[in-house]
Amino acid sequence: MNDAEELLRAALAKMPQGLAEHVLRVADEADRLAKVHGVDRDAARLAALGHDILRGHSAERLLQIAAEQGFVADDVDLAEPILMHGPLAVPILREQYGVLDADVLGAVAAHTTARARMTRLQKLLFVADKIEPHKMGGRPAVIRVGDLAETDLDAALLAYLDVQVVQALERGWPLHPNTIAARNELLAEAGRIAPPK
Ligand SMILES: [Fe+2]
Ligand SMILES: [Fe+2]
Repeated sequence: MNDAEELLRAALAKMPQGLAEHVLRVADEADRLAKVHGVDRDAARLAALGHDILRGHSAERLLQIAAEQGFVADDVDLAEPILMHGPLAVPILREQYGVLDADVLGAVAAHTTARARMTRLQKLLFVADKIEPHKMGGRPAVIRVGDLAETDLDAALLAYLDVQVVQALERGWPLHPNTIAARNELLAEAGRIAPPK
């Protein structure tokens, strides 16, 4: 366990209990998936332990942190400040917890909305966060994401983004541009859309 991992594990004690338990389940899931997919397990655990460091903050506090960091928020971020708890955690993890690995920081940044050009580690964290046992909640569409994650992280990520799109339509929610970009890229890579000739 490196220093950053130790600091992040210690920080769990200051989090609401339910959130800390979620983070530990994601760390276990990320570690397990990393082993399955040959991804760096230390990096996967570190990303998982840091991913929700700001998740306990209110929308008002997240907007304040965004202003302090000079974060360029999208209209959807401003409407749903909770979406910023990923990207806003990056400078805090770097400066206060000594997390310096760009891939790990990128994974934390992308875990709320996803985005185009995600690495395998970043896809793995995104999926691990959504399929940890309590979050799966017996929803068939999310159970399918979990099944896909055993063999194909891209397919699992695409399936989850599809769930998000359906949910957004049903509930009248906006979709973050990064989510749309991630999904379009995965569709193109899967050969389901082709660029215009
Ligand atoms: Fe989160
Ligand atoms: Fe999470």
